[in-house]
Amino acid sequence: MDRIRIRGGRPLSGEIGIGGAKNAALPVMAAAMLTDERLLLSNVPRLADIQTMGLLLAQHGLAVEPVGNDGRTLSLGGTITNTEAPYDIVRKMRASALVLGPLLARTGEARVSMPGGCSIGARPIDLHLKGLEQMGATFRLDGGYIDGRVTGRLRGATIVFPFVSVGATENLLMAASLADGRTVLANAAREPEIGDLARCLNAMGARIEGIDSDRLTVEGVACLHGASHAIIADRIETGTYACAAAITGGEVMLNNARLDHLGATIRILREAGVEIDERPGGLRVRRLNGLHGADVMTEPYPGFPTDMQAQFMALMAVSDGAAMVTETIFENRFMHVSELNRMGARINVHGASAIVRGVSALSGAPVMATDLRASVSLIVAGLAARGETVVNRVYHLDRGYEALEQKLAACGADIERLSG
Ligand code: EPZ
Repeated sequence: MDRIRIRGGRPLSGEIGIGGAKNAALPVMAAAMLTDERLLLSNVPRLADIQTMGLLLAQHGLAVEPVGNDGRTLSLGGTITNTEAPYDIVRKMRASALVLGPLLARTGEARVSMPGGCSIGARPIDLHLKGLEQMGATFRLDGGYIDGRVTGRLRGATIVFPFVSVGATENLLMAASLADGRTVLANAAREPEIGDLARCLNAMGARIEGIDSDRLTVEGVACLHGASHAIIADRIETGTYACAAAITGGEVMLNNARLDHLGATIRILREAGVEIDERPGGLRVRRLNGLHGADVMTEPYPGFPTDMQAQFMALMAVSDGAAMVTETIFENRFMHVSELNRMGARINVHGASAIVRGVSALSGAPVMATDLRASVSLIVAGLAARGETVVNRVYHLDRGYEALEQKLAACGADIERLSG
């Protein structure tokens, strides 16, 4: 099992290329099921989760083929020949649930393994199912699988989400695109990845209005056609490397990064003493003076992203003050705290909040992570820690960060992957 070793203390300096957004590419790939024609996707990140989604779509009958030789352009298309999403794939990647809407919209049936929980929370899909039921689907639980059926086409409906759900918004947006009649999604998620999916669907012939707002209106159409679409840059990768540059007191150019997708992350990082400025082709991030404690609460977009919480906590661990970090999205997303404390951080968790008291320096240690963002927060901490940090279970990282050690090493970090 691979590990990553870091010897901390080197300010990052140089350029990092920000890749396509994992959480945009996954739903957009699922959208390929909504037509038999070819969907050509560019700027697709080379990640384990993308490969898993490719395998899932292929076992549903789609052809998923690389185009060119950069590994970032995919051609997807074909007819659905199998309507079952198997447990051994779904258990590895919860985003597999995103095939539910497309399967029901195209074939009238779906048998999808219940995704089950993960380390950050129970991760139910009840909002997905309730919305699809409002559109005429019926479901029953059978042997750990969700069996869904709809007679004829899904019907447009007005769906009001009781709270914001990225995945439920995506599943229902795809289902509504081919439903009979109008669908309104109220209290919809507004993450940039939703906008990217909606723009791709409209390029395929869908009729979606209200894109980037919390109220999406969809006029269902009988069929969708092929299209070409470029995946947006990954705002969480952007924020992660901004924290890496800041914690080392360095200066980094994040190529292809978009300031307009960072939401509250901009304000919070600037409040902490990080300079973020737009430059031609990306963002310049640096930290010249001390890091200040800044309180943060995770919220749906455009609030501070839950996927940035662990990385920001690592940054606050070496601030000259204190920070209150409150996690409102997931019920168990503080697993990185105990590992950061093993590196000398002073973090106390009280329910959904953690108080982080800055220390002058962290100390390297062997650490282990339990999810993608907790893993990368330990990398961020290791970049500034005195001595050597070895992060275990880096398969979590490979799910969401392409060429992480290469990107950091190119900016001067003393980092390498240890195999075995
Ligand atoms: C997406 O997960 C992202 N994953 C997550 O990123 C991200 O943390 C999350 O949105 C929040 O922004 C992908 O896009 C592939 P939700 P999703 O539905 O759609 C509860 C990463 O690190 N909920 O917005 O699963 C849920 O349990 C990953 O890249 C229900 O109760 O998140 C959570 O507490 C981690 N019932 C909250 O809502 C439902 O039917 C928000 O979940 C659906 C969700």
